Amino acid sequence: MIITLSSLKGGSGKSTLAIHLAHAIALSKRRVLLVDADPQGSAQGWSAAREEKPPFTVIGMARNTLHRDLPDIAKDYDHVVIDTPPRVSALARTAILAADLVLIPVQPSSYDVWAASETVILIDEAQGFKPDIKAAFIINRRIPNTVIGRDVEEALSEYDLPTLPQAIAQRVAFSESSSGHTVMEMSATSSASKEVLKFAKDILKLMEVKKW
Ligand SMILES: Nc1ncnc2c1ncn2[C@@H]1O[C@H](COP(=O)(O)OP(=O)(O)OP(=O)(O)O)[C@@H](O)[C@H]1O
Ligand SMILES: [Mg+2]
Repeated sequence: MIITLSSLKGGSGKSTLAIHLAHAIALSKRRVLLVDADPQGSAQGWSAAREEKPPFTVIGMARNTLHRDLPDIAKDYDHVVIDTPPRVSALARTAILAADLVLIPVQPSSYDVWAASETVILIDEAQGFKPDIKAAFIINRRIPNTVIGRDVEEALSEYDLPTLPQAIAQRVAFSESSSGHTVMEMSATSSASKEVLKFAKDILKLMEVKKW
């Protein structure tokens, strides 16, 4: 399966979630490839900052032909995760077209909910060429027990796309992870780790269901 993290809103959590999703899937003994399709190179930078090899393969592939090139490269892996740039661009489009599933990280703010419409339009366009592309929102940086945390789900229900049941909370551990580790490597039993593992499990389960 090819999972693309896409959001035209900068800083919504694409790279953070792509890295954590790749690790969570790798922990279940699957071969995972993380494709960094963002010329900013966040995922590659994360990998380079590590002393030890990452628990999944990371490659930089910021090219407009991803949807044509990737199936061949993906043959050697069970799952591919793609991190994308935050702009309407040929790169954002090719990464969506390459996907079986597009995940849109949304932070709990009205600005993010409104901005999601641009990403949804890109996905709609791609579905015109490839109707079986699935898409879902993932709430990132949720602040527990706040009204805005609950309201965002309701606001997102205006779109014709599901929201994954497991949100990712705003946690220092995620900011710290950018220096080259995942929250699972910092503490396998932390709340942050449990959220990421549940998030990955929900995705794999949902994709097994034919009609979603
Ligand atoms: N759940 C979270 N809790 C705390 N910090 C977070 C969380 N998710 C992301 N961050 C932090 O927010 C910042 C932006 O995250 P990230 O780089 O993953 O977003 P992005 O969508 O990839 O950004 P860009 O659009 O620039 O590529 C980073 O500093 C990251 O560490
Ligand atoms: Mg990024």
